[in-house]
Amino acid sequence: MVVKVVSKKFDIPDYHKLEVAQKNGAYSSIEKLFTMKPDEVTEEVCKSGLRGKGGGGAACGPKWKLMPKDDPRPAYLIVNGDESEPGTFKDRQIFQYDPHLLIEGIICSSYAINAHHAYIYIRGEYKFFSDRVDEAIQEAYAAGIIGDSVMGHDYKMEITVHRGAGAYICGEKSALIESLEGKRGHPRLKPHGKECEWFFDNPATVNNVETIATVPFIVENGYEAYTAYGTEKSPGTMLFAMSGPVKNPGVYELAFGNKMIDFLNEVGGGMRDGKKLKAIIPGGSSCPILTAKEVESAVLDYESMWDVGSTLGTGGMIVIDEDTCMVEAAKNLIEFYHHESCGQCTPCREGCGWIDDILAKILAGEGSKKDIDTILDVCVSLNGKTICVFAPAVKDIIQSMVQKFPQEFEAYFKN
Ligand SMILES: Cc1cc2nc3c(=O)[nH]c(=O)nc-3n(C[C@H](O)[C@H](O)[C@H](O)COP(=O)(O)O)c2cc1C
Ligand code: SF4
Repeated sequence: MVVKVVSKKFDIPDYHKLEVAQKNGAYSSIEKLFTMKPDEVTEEVCKSGLRGKGGGGAACGPKWKLMPKDDPRPAYLIVNGDESEPGTFKDRQIFQYDPHLLIEGIICSSYAINAHHAYIYIRGEYKFFSDRVDEAIQEAYAAGIIGDSVMGHDYKMEITVHRGAGAYICGEKSALIESLEGKRGHPRLKPHGKECEWFFDNPATVNNVETIATVPFIVENGYEAYTAYGTEKSPGTMLFAMSGPVKNPGVYELAFGNKMIDFLNEVGGGMRDGKKLKAIIPGGSSCPILTAKEVESAVLDYESMWDVGSTLGTGGMIVIDEDTCMVEAAKNLIEFYHHESCGQCTPCREGCGWIDDILAKILAGEGSKKDIDTILDVCVSLNGKTICVFAPAVKDIIQSMVQKFPQEFEAYFKN
């Protein structure tokens, strides 16, 4: 079931070192890259159906096409390595085991959008990973892979690593850019139409680490090699993280279209200590929870996850067993969101706090049915009325936990 596209070289000892990486084929897409025109690279990525792996699943090629043509201002590629979503720990595998693949992906993607400077924004807590990426970048500069010329080609490429300060909201692309510009990481109001991002008023594209690390495979092997994996509507592969009480937690690359329950049992080794599965939060914590029954029919691709009423998100599956109390799990999550809300929008700033307070009250045995109604009412206010989708995501997870496991909340009223 496990396939190796992005993770192909993860197991080679010391592969993060340039010398080892080059002996094993790193940067092999670059020769072909410069035989193509930038628009041809974008077209290839469009045909591959590559979608963003940062949670939203936006089509990558069409997004690159939003970059203005013939604009005299410099263009930028911004790589989102904030990775602060609970249950999500896949980008750091790329940082740790194959940072040169990320650099190769940055060269390919920058060339497609005519950017000569890329920033990698890495979450503040990822010091080890950020140091590792920094070392790889220094090696790449010293070897002439990046710098004034990319491997002898007439293309200048600079890469800068920027470490965040530990705020989840800085993973939201416009908050990330604000932070990169030296300001407080507040999401920006969204434009009415589709357009690129703006970094110091210059055109920019923001992509997730894994998205960018997938591009060299497509450039080198052609889009058909990528669409050979996955389903017709969700082509390709994804790094799925699995955490919780399973026998083999970890990060595994799968083609889209596998059954979630097979992934859990065959790759994850099934539940630990003979416990029963209660639920799975499928895509990092910001999406509706699935009951064990729903998990049985869930398939790991974008469309199928919508069919079961959730989303694929970042592919970070949080597995929950029969011993876990849903009220405590909901409290744990809302404490995180309450703390991480940037506070610009009243429904989000106040709503997360109210839900946090109400869940504390329920856990203390002082709750009633009215409190559940209030939580669900606050969830309505969280949805669709805020600057960014942080608040709707909180609504998704909390509302689904309350609606799918009402008996667990009610048990606190009685006892
Ligand atoms: C609250 C919030 C946090 C986010 N955190 C991340 C993150 O840590 N990494 C990431 O790649 N995308 C994150 N995103 C999604 C980004 O806004 C953006 O869609 C993504 O980086 C685009 O890259 P992609 O199209 O390659 O996925 C977050 C979105 C929201 C609303
Ligand atoms: S929804 Fe929440 S996190 Fe997003 S901008 Fe509004 S207050 Fe900030």
